[in-house]
Amino acid sequence: MSLLSFAEAAARCGVSEMTIRRRVRDGSLPEIKVGARPRVRLSDLARLYPDVFSGARLPAGPCRVLAFANQKGGVGKTSTCANLAAALARSALVLCVDCDPQGNLTQALGAHPDHLEVTLYNVLLERLPLERVTIRPLPALPNLSLAGANLDLASADHQLAGAVAREMRLRQALEAHLTAYDYILIDCPPSLGLLTLNALTAATEVIVPVDMGVFSLRGVAKLMDTIAEVRAVNPGLTRVRALSNRADNTNLSQDVSAELARGFGDDLFRASIRRSVRIGEAQAARLPLPLYRPKDPAAQDFLDLSEEVRHAQA
Ligand SMILES: Nc1ncnc2c1ncn2[C@@H]1O[C@H](COP(=O)(O)OP(=O)(O)OP(=O)(O)O)[C@@H](O)[C@H]1O
Ligand SMILES: [Mg+2]
Repeated sequence: MSLLSFAEAAARCGVSEMTIRRRVRDGSLPEIKVGARPRVRLSDLARLYPDVFSGARLPAGPCRVLAFANQKGGVGKTSTCANLAAALARSALVLCVDCDPQGNLTQALGAHPDHLEVTLYNVLLERLPLERVTIRPLPALPNLSLAGANLDLASADHQLAGAVAREMRLRQALEAHLTAYDYILIDCPPSLGLLTLNALTAATEVIVPVDMGVFSLRGVAKLMDTIAEVRAVNPGLTRVRALSNRADNTNLSQDVSAELARGFGDDLFRASIRRSVRIGEAQAARLPLPLYRPKDPAAQDFLDLSEEVRHAQA
């Protein structure tokens, strides 16, 4: 049974917390007590706000938290995160978390980083509840939510440096939301700093996009070392998989693919993302590729990837 706080319920339905309280008072929304804390059932909310939930379903099982990490810049972390999220959100409840001060994921999903009054920065630094910064950026994908970021987040590394358990902040912020989503997708910045550490510490799985044109085995080995260290505090991180991005028919791409397969074995996705100018175009148009050009072959790659993700055991 999925239970939500009043604030979470309000965020999910796009109404004020006051409205939720009123519905509880007038009896149309049963209150469930968890200790002293008042909660409501997700299924009762869905009954009360059918429009919000139409076409959507309630989370089917434990939430999977996928971090997109590679300290190398420009390998496809953000485009994979945004487009996989859009593909998954056709049939699942998905929360995207932009953990990169560049705010590229926020933009790719249609929001304007500079227009956001509160962002992940306020969650990590001021412990603002996540639902306060969560928006639904794309009307065409009502199952897709976003906790956005902008340049404010750039000072997080520095400001958190002396804090106790500083790598746990995101994990703690997500904890109350694991019952509300099927998938939480976290886009990491191109570094192994504190923001990426927060994402890895919150994750149950890591996806490592690898650029088939400029593969660096040494870079991936360093990421794997960091992940091994994170596993000591996050034993729930069960799987790390590589994804071939910008794949084409060149010898280089095929050599890199063979090398990745040797290194990752079953943990290399069978799906790969081909090189396509439409991916950049979609990002510039602030739309996920499956919405921008559903018939583009690369959009099909993301759908194939989403099927593989859905069916794989974490
Ligand atoms: N398969 C692809 N084909 C063509 N262009 C791509 C492909 N994947 C990504 N790109 C483009 O490459 C650029 C970098 O991609 P993206 O922003 O997803 O990488 P990133 O790893 O998130 O970068 P950063 O490390 O800066 O966060 C973008 O302009 C994107 O549109
Ligand atoms: Mg990025």
